[in-house]
Parts: sequence; structure tokens; C-alpha cells
Amino acid sequence: MSQALYRKWRSQTFDEVIGQEHVTQTLRNALRDGRIAHAYLFSGPRGTGKTSTARILAKALNCTGPEGERPCNKCPTCTAINEGRMLDLIEIDAASNNSVDDIRDLREKIGFRPGEGQFKIYIIDEVHMLSSSAFNALLKTLEEPPPHARFVLATTEPHKIPATVMSRCQRFDFRRIPVPEIAGHLQEITTAEGFQAEDEALTAIARSAQGCMRDAISLLDQMLSYGVETVTLAQVQEVLGAVSSETVAVLVDGLAERDVAAVLRVVQQLVGQGAGLAEFTGQLIEYLRALMLLQMTNAPDLLDDLPDETIRRMQGQATRITLPMTLHAIKRLSEALPELKGGYQPQLPLELALIESIRGEIRPASVDSEPSAQAVATSAKEASAAATASRSAPVSRAQTPAAVDKPTEAGDAETGKAEASEEADLPLDEAAIRKLSGPGWDQFQNTVRERLGHKVQASLRAVRDIAVSENRVAFAFGTNQFSHDMVSAPETMSKIVDLLSGYLGRSVRLECQMGDTAKLTGRLAVQQAAGQEGPDPLVEYAVENLRASVAE
Ligand SMILES: Nc1ncnc2c1ncn2[C@@H]1O[C@H](COP(=O)(O)OP(=O)(O)O)[C@@H](O)[C@H]1O
Ligand SMILES: [Mg+2]
Ligand SMILES: [Zn+2]
Repeated sequence: MSQALYRKWRSQTFDEVIGQEHVTQTLRNALRDGRIAHAYLFSGPRGTGKTSTARILAKALNCTGPEGERPCNKCPTCTAINEGRMLDLIEIDAASNNSVDDIRDLREKIGFRPGEGQFKIYIIDEVHMLSSSAFNALLKTLEEPPPHARFVLATTEPHKIPATVMSRCQRFDFRRIPVPEIAGHLQEITTAEGFQAEDEALTAIARSAQGCMRDAISLLDQMLSYGVETVTLAQVQEVLGAVSSETVAVLVDGLAERDVAAVLRVVQQLVGQGAGLAEFTGQLIEYLRALMLLQMTNAPDLLDDLPDETIRRMQGQATRITLPMTLHAIKRLSEALPELKGGYQPQLPLELALIESIRGEIRPASVDSEPSAQAVATSAKEASAAATASRSAPVSRAQTPAAVDKPTEAGDAETGKAEASEEADLPLDEAAIRKLSGPGWDQFQNTVRERLGHKVQASLRAVRDIAVSENRVAFAFGTNQFSHDMVSAPETMSKIVDLLSGYLGRSVRLECQMGDTAKLTGRLAVQQAAGQEGPDPLVEYAVENLRASVAE
């Protein structure tokens, strides 16, 4: 295989451009009707067919084959373009020819009539890279193009194109290609190249390519070059381990589950594979940023650069992670990023950032209480990440503060010390809290509605936060005194307690509280994570700097 597969398999006709029918069909109609615009702007992610389609259009415009079959790929001009020796097709890479002189050069030559075909076609790739004076020069050309000239501007970053230039072009947005269509194309290539592949293997490749056909073909190329007859899912996964965005998503799943061990395992695997940790951390921050946008705005269109499948997965994660946790993780990982180069244990800053993202900031014993043996033991446990954290799981994640860091099994032996700190929070039951968040909370509310009626259920909707310990449950009602009183009424309360006890599978007492955070205080000395009190500074930062609004 001397030639890269993705070049060998460049689409040669409109039919062969996969997943961009909205573009190819319009172009075909325009060709048929002789209404080809002077300038097109092809925008979209890399590897989705922009250059290929621009060349197909160039061929079709100059093709001498039978009408309706253009480009024919047989006539002299088609052949010349396919062999890259057609003088009337001028491809300019704006990434390296971005000065005003380059565009002046273009303008000087554009006046000359085409030598071979009917049209002179300019394809300017990565056009957003042009300097502003070059854009101005280009604009003049686009305003008065010679009749024999046609332009295709291609870009991965359309927002960087000046509006004046944009308005001179007909714009086509190339979309990320859906997984099944990529997988289908890979199957075709695999067979044609004389190989076999498991369906799941091709789907895995397609998924990892994030809608980019070129990346998918390149990865297939790599798999085929191992010389095996059949490409298997296991092989693909092995190869993907080093690069995959799947790994990022898996790590975020770990964050969502607050599973420190799972998260550290991913890091360990990455280290074992010799992956670039700084790069990975960057990917992780990018992913969390998208998650944050979803959590704050629930507007997936802000994420138009991501495949639907990733967005769907993120939407699931967005309900399982609290917004403050996302923000905290972004902040901690950004801090860790510059520390990741070199160092004694290069992965340590990443590990600490992840642990703290899950467990809250790890500090030595708090200043106001005398440093107790127990607090120290707790910190040691935190650092070794052996225990599972429990937390206060907000029902309405946008409005509640960050995860609270509480040890589960601290202090049995320290009765004397524990008595000194009556006000400390009880260890919370995370599993139970999860049963009362998200879909679980909806389910419980439905039960309440069925048994106790619509009014009682409505008052439960005011609940902002829930805390559960061994035998106590606290509901925080924010500032909604009315709902608070409604639920606190002895009759209602006892009925809800029955339902709650049944739902949780153990008998519990219920406390109705005001405020945004449900609290259960008891007899254990614990430390709290940053961001426990008051409005979260990170949320405020995000609202201010990202012009995001907090979603209900
Ligand atoms: N929509 C598509 N259908 C089929 N193959 C594609 C498509 N998009 C990209 N490819 C493959 O990827 C290679 C690079 O595509 P290209 O048109 O240069 O992408 P872009 O210009 O959008 O970065 C092509 O040679 C082809 O093998
Ligand atoms: Mg291109
Ligand atoms: Zn032709």
C-alpha cells in the first residue's frame, strides 16, 4: 500500500461524497441549470469532503463529457484534474500563502483567460488564515470577478471570515458524517482492498473519528497495514487506547460516578501506554467545557462542533455531575496542566486534580479545631483515594453548591474527639442520595403524586437539595417557606416519611429545612470542601465570563 488509503479513496463524483447530500444535490442542480455561483464558501470540520467536493465541482465545470454525467472522469480535463496537472485549477493553501502579496499575485493572473477549459477555478483552502489586507484584496476580486473565474473558499473556522467576504459567497456547511455512514464506507474500502473486518471494529473506528472521514480511513489504513486478514474489535480498541476520545468520556464517567479508583485507573493506563498526559488533560478540559455549556444552557447547538452521539452521552453525564463539580474540575485541571511536564511523578498533578475534583479540596485539618488524629487519618485516606466519598447530592444541580467532602468511616475510635465537635456534618449516604436525584427523584415524586396527590407533590418540587445519612433525610426548600410548611405539617410529613422509608428500604426521619443546602449535622469531625458556603465563585465566574445563564 504505497499511497495513503484516504488519498487513493478520494471521492471522484458527487455520488461518492458521503453524508453531504445537501451540498452535492444543490451543486448538481445548479450545474444542470447553469447557475453556478461565482464564489462558494465550504465550511465544516476537516476531513468531511470540502476539498474533494471543490475538485469535483471544478471537474464538472470544465468537463467535456455528456451533460448529466459530469464530471465524467474520462475526458481530458477530468483526467488532467485527477492527475493534478490542470493549469486552470489553482489550489491555494491560505495557511502558507496568506499575505496580501499572494492575493495580489492571484488578482494579476486572474484576468487571463483559462488555457484549457471554460473556467478558471480557484480553491482557497483554510481561507480564514488570510491576513486582513489579503482579505481586502480578495474582496475586491470577489466584487468584480472576471466571468470565467469561479471561487471555492474552504475553511474549518467560518466565524473568522469577514462578513463582507461571506456575503459574496454562497455558503455550504459540511457536516460531520454519522457513524453508520462512515462505517459503511470503511466496509466498502476494506472489501475492495481484499480484507475483512468485524462490523464492531469498523463501528469503533467510525466512532473514534468523530465525524471525520479522513481520520476514519487513516485509522483503517493503519489497521490493515498490520497485515492481519481480519480487523477485529480487540485490535481496534488496543490501537485506540492511545488516542481515543472514548478514553476521555470514560474518565468523565468516572467523575460522574465519583469513582476515584476508576479515574486513577484511566490515568495509569495512559501512563502505561506512554500517552501525552498534557495533551490528554487538554482534551479533558475541552470535554468538560462542553459539558459545562450543556449544564448551564442546555443548548446543544452551542456545541455544533461535536457529533450527536457525543452530545447525547454528555447530556447523560450532565445530569449526573453537578455544575459546581464540573467547574471545579475545569479549574483544577487547568491548574494542573502547566505542571504536567517533567517532574518527579509526571502524572501526579493530574491525579491530584482528579481526586480533588471528586473529593473537594484536600486540606490539612481545619484551623479552628485542633488538628486531631482523626482529621489526619482522613487526609491520608483521601490521598490514597481508598475510601468512597459521600456527598450532598443536589436535586437542582444548577443552584446548589459544590460537592461536600465527607469521610464515610472516620472516627469510630475517636469518640472523645468527636464529642468535641457536635456541629460537624454527618457522613452522607451517597447511594441513597443518588436514588433521590435525577430520574430517581422523579420516580419518588410520581409515587407521592399517586398516593398523596398533586398538591403534596407540587410542594416537593421546591426542594433544592437533599441530604441522607444513616437514618435521617433532610430536604432544603430554598426560600420557599410555603412548600416547607406544607411538607412539615405533621400529617403530610408522616405520610411522606412512610413513602420515603419504603423507597429507601429503611426507616428514616425527615427534616425540612430552609436554604439551598440540606444539612445533617451530627457528632463527627469532618472537613468541608471549598465552595460549600454561599454562591459558588466559579459559577459566578462562568456566568460573568462566558455569558452563560444558569439553567433551571
Ligand atoms: N464526505 C466524504 N465522503 C467520502 N470520503 C470522504 C469524505 N470526506 C472526506 N473523505 C475522505 O477524506 C479525504 C480527505 O477529504 P477532504 O475532501 O480533503 O476533506 P476536507 O477538505 O474537508 O478536509 C478524502 O480523500 C476522502 O478519502
Ligand atoms: Mg481540505
Ligand atoms: Zn469529464
